[in-house]
Amino acid sequence: GEGGRTRLIGRERAYHGGNFGGLSVGGIGANRKAFSASLLPGIDHLRHTYERSEMAYCRGQPSWGAHLADDLERLVQLHDASSIAAVIVEPVAGSTGILVPPVGYLQRLREICDCHSILLIFDEVITAFGRVGTAFAAERFGVLPDILTVAKGITNGVIPMGAVLVRESIYQALMQGPEEAIEFFHGYTYSGHPVAAAAGLAALASYEEEESFRQAKALELRFEEALHGLREEPHVVDIRNIGLMGGIELASREGAPGVRGFEAFQDCFEQGVVIRNGGDTLQFAPFLNSAEDELERIFDCVRKALRRLR
Ligand SMILES: Cc1ncc(COP(=O)(O)O)c(C=O)c1O
Repeated sequence: GEGGRTRLIGRERAYHGGNFGGLSVGGIGANRKAFSASLLPGIDHLRHTYERSEMAYCRGQPSWGAHLADDLERLVQLHDASSIAAVIVEPVAGSTGILVPPVGYLQRLREICDCHSILLIFDEVITAFGRVGTAFAAERFGVLPDILTVAKGITNGVIPMGAVLVRESIYQALMQGPEEAIEFFHGYTYSGHPVAAAAGLAALASYEEEESFRQAKALELRFEEALHGLREEPHVVDIRNIGLMGGIELASREGAPGVRGFEAFQDCFEQGVVIRNGGDTLQFAPFLNSAEDELERIFDCVRKALRRLR
């Protein structure tokens, strides 16, 4: 009902998918450059939340940095709140290398959004369904967004499905279609696909039955210990973690950013362990029900790889 609010605010270093809306609010330079001709207009970005000098080797949430959310006030001053529809962030920035939100940061973002009637969207494609030891990161951090996007874990990642969860007031606004038509007119070829829906229901039932989110929470400390146990290994400049998400940042090889990360990934792959690298950050997201010796195996392989790296 507020047609002037057309602007979206994303955040530097964010990843919201390779679609053109996601690339537009996303904040990864190489992706934006590759598609620069087709990005949405009227988008701006908050500054990212990473400051190594203040938070290197922090376990869980950094205590420094809540004030970084005030960057939204700067954008409100610049564009005027009446032009801003929504702010979208990953509660924990995943693809860019596991950036955990500083204590109080998301709360502050929520307060500023409320103050200016801006919607807050959490992209929980990675963080939902147990990845941070709770059903949603929103729950873990105690901040309720207005809109929440999910995918991957909704079907345990085995069948493609995504979903958007909204507050009751937004739901009701969307359900105001004409009586003779479906309420929310958007039909994709695969919308509500029965196989995906069945996989989603089965995954949710398994999570409940096996208490997967509790398992993930119980494993968190072991994971953290194992991850931070690599602190003294060659090339490591930072280690970050929350729930069962972890990142090990390596110094870039001179003139060849990303190459060291990729070589570490390849070495682990040849040892039979799949990690992933985002540039020079190695990223970990083990199964929620991993056994402790499986975690050991992962980090033994990474240790070997790091010692072999140039
Ligand atoms: C936070 C986040 N949002 C969205 C996506 C992907 O969206 P899609 O592949 O559906 O465009 C990803 C993929 O990893 C992601 O990490």
